[in-house]
Amino acid sequence: MSRRTLLITGASAGIGAALARVYAERGWDVILTARREAALTALAAEITTTWGVTATVIPADLADPDAPARLVEAIVARGLTVDGLINNAGFSRTTGFLATDPEQHRAMVQVMLSAPVALSRLLLPGMVERGFGRIINVASLAGQMPATGGDTLYGPIKSFLIKASQGLWLETRGTGVHVTALCPGYTLTEFHDVNGSREQVSSAYPSWMWQTARHVAQVGYVACEADRARVTPGFMNNVLAAMGKLLPDSLALNMVAGHARRLKRI
Ligand SMILES: NC(=O)c1ccc[n+]([C@@H]2O[C@H](COP(=O)([O-])OP(=O)(O)OC[C@H]3O[C@@H](n4cnc5c(N)ncnc54)[C@H](OP(=O)(O)O)[C@@H]3O)[C@@H](O)[C@H]2O)c1
Repeated sequence: MSRRTLLITGASAGIGAALARVYAERGWDVILTARREAALTALAAEITTTWGVTATVIPADLADPDAPARLVEAIVARGLTVDGLINNAGFSRTTGFLATDPEQHRAMVQVMLSAPVALSRLLLPGMVERGFGRIINVASLAGQMPATGGDTLYGPIKSFLIKASQGLWLETRGTGVHVTALCPGYTLTEFHDVNGSREQVSSAYPSWMWQTARHVAQVGYVACEADRARVTPGFMNNVLAAMGKLLPDSLALNMVAGHARRLKRI
């Protein structure tokens, strides 16, 4: 059997880079994409040297609506076939709806919602045809909560990804394609540096609430291989997700409001 090839978005840091390592360790070739070419090239060199697989770098800005189609064209032009897709690229803005530039809102929707849909639509037909495929959509615990105050669109976008993954899981049953929504809680990556909330989250939440990107990536890999439609790494995160589901909206919203106040977002 020839080696499998995985496309990972947001591979220049955090959970995406960890997923690239986890799959490369298991013999997958990887295609790494994000905006920062130097970080992707460094990761590709590390992966090739450590595991002897092929790592291809194709930089792209997924905030550009044409990027998914261009990315797939570039992959086809290199003669590569994508057996696995990880929609991982993402970011949040925690300044509140009105204080966030509308262009940032558009970019959030484009990078975390429209690009995963477009890439899945472009790559899934080939996976179904070949009788093998893996898709992981990196969502969030936030997508299982009733709302996210301060970063208003983030939770709804992640809820969308969870539901879309579950829908695709249903539609692809029996085809050899596995689809999983990976829903991490607090994870040690660049995410909270990028959105400027590192200090607040570090002082508001104890170290035991934080998981490493490697752990999250390993949980995602195992869940996708086991064909689970959704996985939330960590016992406490599952407790929180269950509370978000079981509590009446008013109580659940109060729980989320406490969280937003601790982070000084509302
Ligand atoms: N960290 C957490 O606590 C946490 C919890 C739950 C879910 N998540 C989700 O996990 C995923 C990965 O985040 P992370 O925690 O690993 O954060 P991170 O370390 O900041 O990594 C984010 C990745 O997304 C890429 N990205 C951002 N904007 C992009 C754009 N316009 N075009 C292409 N790539 C872009 C970044 O690459 P470039 O900057 O090089 O473009 C980077 O590789 C995200 O979807 C996030 O929502 C994170």
